[in-house]
Amino acid sequence: MLLKDKIAIVTGAGQGIGSATAMALAEAGATVVTADIDGKLAEAAAQAIQAHQRKALPLTVDVGDVESIQSMVDRTLAAHGRIDILVNNAGVTRRADIMDITEADWDRIHRVNAKGVFFCLQAVARVMIKQRGGRIINIASIAGKGYAGTSNAAYAASKGAVISLTKTAAQQLGKYDINVNSVCPGVTRTALGEANLRVRAQEEGLSIEAMDAKRLEAIPIRRANDPADIAAMVVFLASPGARNITGQSYNVDGGIVPD
Ligand SMILES: NC(=O)c1ccc[n+]([C@@H]2O[C@H](COP(=O)([O-])OP(=O)(O)OC[C@H]3O[C@@H](n4cnc5c(N)ncnc54)[C@H](O)[C@@H]3O)[C@@H](O)[C@H]2O)c1
Repeated sequence: MLLKDKIAIVTGAGQGIGSATAMALAEAGATVVTADIDGKLAEAAAQAIQAHQRKALPLTVDVGDVESIQSMVDRTLAAHGRIDILVNNAGVTRRADIMDITEADWDRIHRVNAKGVFFCLQAVARVMIKQRGGRIINIASIAGKGYAGTSNAAYAASKGAVISLTKTAAQQLGKYDINVNSVCPGVTRTALGEANLRVRAQEEGLSIEAMDAKRLEAIPIRRANDPADIAAMVVFLASPGARNITGQSYNVDGGIVPD
């Protein structure tokens, strides 16, 4: 129960890495706000936590909308009075060659992945500054560190923005005892990851199974992530043992990207 009595918000908590992270934080003792643009998914994630006799509050949020973010923060404070942990996890992409990316793709991806992360961080940091403490954990990607298999250059740029923001925010918020770090997942078995796999299989004329085997060959440890692998790193970064770690972006990728 490393996170007993802590209040955590996880964005994009409805499925995949977000729902696994929400569950792991709850198992470590935190009360978790499961925030997602899909209200039904947010509700299901909260119910799964409650079924484990842990505390959760489902909220609908669009992280690309600053008013919606403020409402998420206000409702969390109304229910729980403080925010100790923010996991900026909501993210979107679409597999596309660099020459096929449209203005609409760029805007949609950056609205959620870059703008959403920044304004959630800013709104929650206002609360954490008053509290004199907190942990902010951004889910970036090895795409933001130049991973050669990155499927969309606009997505890679949005994740590079998250890694850069993590460094600057850590320097500016450290004096309030607020730690800001990122986790950079590699290949992870979620709806987003598997959609990518299906398109790659089609592009290369391979079966899904053959494409999956080829994908695994490019991972030194020969294993894709489960969402729980990312969740475990988030729990560590939120825990007392990580109190002096800030401004870092850690890969959880089986060794694909060496730094
Ligand atoms: N799956 C992978 O292989 C992989 C690899 C690297 C990084 N990531 C990153 O991990 C994070 C989670 O990815 P995932 O694979 O679990 O994705 P996913 O598509 O399975 O889940 C994303 C969740 O975010 C929610 N969401 C989307 N837009 C939102 C918005 N505007 N406001 C609030 N919620 C919104 C969706 O409803 C969904 O529940 C993303 O930031 C993604 O870029 C994933």
